[in-house]
Amino acid sequence: MRERNSPRSVLVVGSGGREHALVWALRRSPSVGTLYAAPGNPGIAQLAEIVPISADDIHAIADWSVERAVDLVVVGPEAPLAAGLADLLMERSTPVFGPTRAAAELEWSKTFAKRFLSEHAIPTPGWAVFTDADTALAHAARADYPLVVKADGLAAGKGVTVCASFAEAAAAIRAALVEGAFGEAGRRVIVEEFVTGKEVSVIALCDGERIACLPPARDHKRLGADDTGPNTGGMGAYAPVPELDEVFLHLVEETILQPTVDGLRAMGRPYRGALYAGLMLGPTGPQVLEFNCRFGDPETQAMLPLLEGDFAEILLACAEGQLDPTSVCRTGGSTTCLTLAAPGYPICPELGGVVRGIVDAEATGALVFHAGTVARDDEVVAGGGRVVSVVGRGADLQESTERAYAAAARIEFPGKQMRPDIGAPQLALAR
Ligand code: GLY
Repeated sequence: MRERNSPRSVLVVGSGGREHALVWALRRSPSVGTLYAAPGNPGIAQLAEIVPISADDIHAIADWSVERAVDLVVVGPEAPLAAGLADLLMERSTPVFGPTRAAAELEWSKTFAKRFLSEHAIPTPGWAVFTDADTALAHAARADYPLVVKADGLAAGKGVTVCASFAEAAAAIRAALVEGAFGEAGRRVIVEEFVTGKEVSVIALCDGERIACLPPARDHKRLGADDTGPNTGGMGAYAPVPELDEVFLHLVEETILQPTVDGLRAMGRPYRGALYAGLMLGPTGPQVLEFNCRFGDPETQAMLPLLEGDFAEILLACAEGQLDPTSVCRTGGSTTCLTLAAPGYPICPELGGVVRGIVDAEATGALVFHAGTVARDDEVVAGGGRVVSVVGRGADLQESTERAYAAAARIEFPGKQMRPDIGAPQLALAR
């Protein structure tokens, strides 16, 4: 283990709302001195020194980290992890929060994840894997509907299709296996049973052996109110999820997350980083819909403001295999995160609109994390489909939601899209 410097220098890799939230939490860590972000964004630039290297240029990031002797690298997105950034850093004795390529296979191959889940008796919807279109079509012809068709590999959030009929399933199967719509990522498809219930995201910080869960969050993936419209990268989230108590979290740890970390360790793939379980809560208990090898977006923006303590110390302890789960402490209260998206998102976002009112929104006490913005002259303009995340904090979900909407109303850009009902289903339950 490397000798620890104090204060520490930390590099965050990535450029979205999740990475802005990570930088925000690290900036508040007493142990952190210099904070860098590669490539960051205009919001992150207010808190960290920008390193102009793309998150996908893993060799340049590793070289830079070694040259600067940074004390910790925290990797946001999945692509550099799947490409082996953590491996490169570990080979050169640079502590990294994020799994190796082998451990990250849980996200970059759904076939691997499904086999792993089945072999370890971890609950997950029924599935079959295909490389041949005719065999997949024959299976789909005999199946019950709805049915889920998933590209095996990383497909930038576009590889999952919920099919209402055989015709839709056949189109999804042909798109992946015949037309090559997802390239290499779609050379295999998973055909999965459709399960109903309520979804929840649980993220554990892992050190290869031990785990500590962050407060559970509920993401809202559809663009429109009442879960209508196309799937998006996430239109908002709240945390914690009021109906999920410590008993639930303990069940998820015991039946899903700890067996996953134990199983990977037994395979010689110790998992160090954020392990994200996308769960469906049905009548038989939680089932794993997906694993991600990273923090969720926008869940992270909602989860991190609920943590106490030195976040950098916790992530470094994970990187070094030294996590003390009791060091991960939560504040009380609730957060609600709203995504403000560009017009045309998610199909064809129109970029370039000037974003105004961020300082006014922050003046209400809310947090504003830049998700897809660029600096132009003295202004900030929409530079990605999801433009900013606005996080309200309050004593309970009602208060955090009201505060998030009050703050979000102060931010304007042409064609701003925002779901009006984040947190609302939960409030309706409570009434
Ligand atoms: N919120 C879903 C994800 O991060 O993949």
